[in-house]
Amino acid sequence: MTDARAPTTGKAREKVDARHLRAELLPEQSPELLKTLHLLTREGHLNADARRKLKQVNHLVGLVQPALDDVFSRFPSPVVADVGSGNAYLGFVLYELFFARRDAGEVWSIESRADLVARSTERAQTLGYQRMRFEQAAIDTATLPERVHVLTALHACDTATDDAIVQAVRHKADHVALVPCCQAEVAQQLKDARAAVRPEMLSLFAHPWHRREFGSHLSNVVRALLLESQGYQVTVTELAGWEHSLKNELILGRRVHKENREARARLDQLLAATGVRPKAVRVLLGEAKA
Ligand SMILES: C[S@@+](CC[C@H](N)C(=O)[O-])C[C@H]1O[C@@H](n2cnc3c(N)ncnc32)[C@H](O)[C@@H]1O
Repeated sequence: MTDARAPTTGKAREKVDARHLRAELLPEQSPELLKTLHLLTREGHLNADARRKLKQVNHLVGLVQPALDDVFSRFPSPVVADVGSGNAYLGFVLYELFFARRDAGEVWSIESRADLVARSTERAQTLGYQRMRFEQAAIDTATLPERVHVLTALHACDTATDDAIVQAVRHKADHVALVPCCQAEVAQQLKDARAAVRPEMLSLFAHPWHRREFGSHLSNVVRALLLESQGYQVTVTELAGWEHSLKNELILGRRVHKENREARARLDQLLAATGVRPKAVRVLLGEAKA
């Protein structure tokens, strides 16, 4: 496949007329699919909201392309699982670009909302995308294939990103790509841990606003370290410009070891210093059920 990185020209908040659409699309991406997904109007125009969503999805596709090339080169029938999939835009775009012209491989989309699952199932049937699977389930109890090769979670809210990490580790995903969303759990844990935390740390999150921001940052630092401790080589980067989304941090992981004890030690130190215990930590380190 050609390089799937999204073009970055144009002002993010403007709609795009059908005549200028090509610059917004990935090289082999079809307007027909985007019309079926209602990201394009019937006339082929891209409105401002759909444009922001398409930018996020296409950037992520570009960034996970090396992971897909890797798993297609090593496995006869790779499984991609996109969890907290919403309208499954990411799954549909991945299917069109990487799976449709191959005979093997599956794209799974896990979503808790029945209406979204029903709509996506119908769309996949219309498109003839036979190796897309849709499951209405919470991420932490979803029944995924025993082996998942690439696991993605784009803006899965609060602890849903933790659930995604747990599923990735349990299903031995070779690659993970997470763009966390809003995060409330750790901010609450910071509040509860105030008495136990060293005084010089308290200023970092004494104000509610700082607690929310620091809690969100700390959650993602813990998530990255947890993945490292589970044997992943982790890269943290930006998904797309801030003009496309405020939730913009991308955590990419590639499984290279069985475990990493040095990362586990750093994780333990950080958890002890801050007094937090996010869901993915509780579940993977054996203190709670998934
Ligand atoms: C902000 S939307 C993002 C949807 C999609 N990934 C995207 O970027 O277009 C988050 C979606 O995750 C779903 N969701 C949130 N928590 C979930 C959970 N624990 N299990 C399954 N789905 C969940 C919500 O219903 C919603 O559709």
